[in-house]
Amino acid sequence: MKPEFQTSKEFTKEQNLEAVRMLGLKLATDPRWVNIAEKSIHEILVDHAFCEQKAATQCISLIVRFSDYPKIVERVAPIVSEEWGHFRKVLKELKKRGLELGKSRKDEYVLELIKFVKKGGPKEDHLLEQLLICGLIEARSCERFRLLSLYCQDEELKEFYYEFMVSEAGHYTLFLELARTYFPEEKVKQRWQEWLEYEASVMETWTLRGDRVH
Ligand SMILES: [Fe+2]
Ligand SMILES: [Fe+2]
Repeated sequence: MKPEFQTSKEFTKEQNLEAVRMLGLKLATDPRWVNIAEKSIHEILVDHAFCEQKAATQCISLIVRFSDYPKIVERVAPIVSEEWGHFRKVLKELKKRGLELGKSRKDEYVLELIKFVKKGGPKEDHLLEQLLICGLIEARSCERFRLLSLYCQDEELKEFYYEFMVSEAGHYTLFLELARTYFPEEKVKQRWQEWLEYEASVMETWTLRGDRVH
């Protein structure tokens, strides 16, 4: 099982956009979602900011929970700073538009995914679940950012989301690589497929919302 794609500085923008088209996801978002999202860009930006905050928080808790796994500590620590940097970047974008962060909201998509996490068993199995759920959230975020970067009317926002797309694609790769570092390839592949199928079944019943990243 090889990484499904690679973004590289040598790649053109078009190649990167193509490389992250689906990331193995089993259900593509209807591109018309961008039209709805654009109408409530304030809500999208606020939701996005909290997604970045949660990503940073999740990385910190991974490090604390699995502090006896050196590669987790070493590779995830810089991601905390990156996600927090993303949070600040979205805050800046809100400020530029005269908008405020406001209250935190429930992330229904993530809550739905959490239901699929295997409970019990050895601690290392929990690590696999956490790495895969993180990879999956990165993949779906990336897929949505790609759509915004392609179809948004606002040229500045296009660029803004393109950069997020590339960065989250890197995180997606990292989480899957870490899973393959600690677990047999076949085990990762099988569980990853189960996660992808579950996520697609969630997305299938989901109403497209213009006020949420997911
Ligand atoms: Fe991020
Ligand atoms: Fe990320």
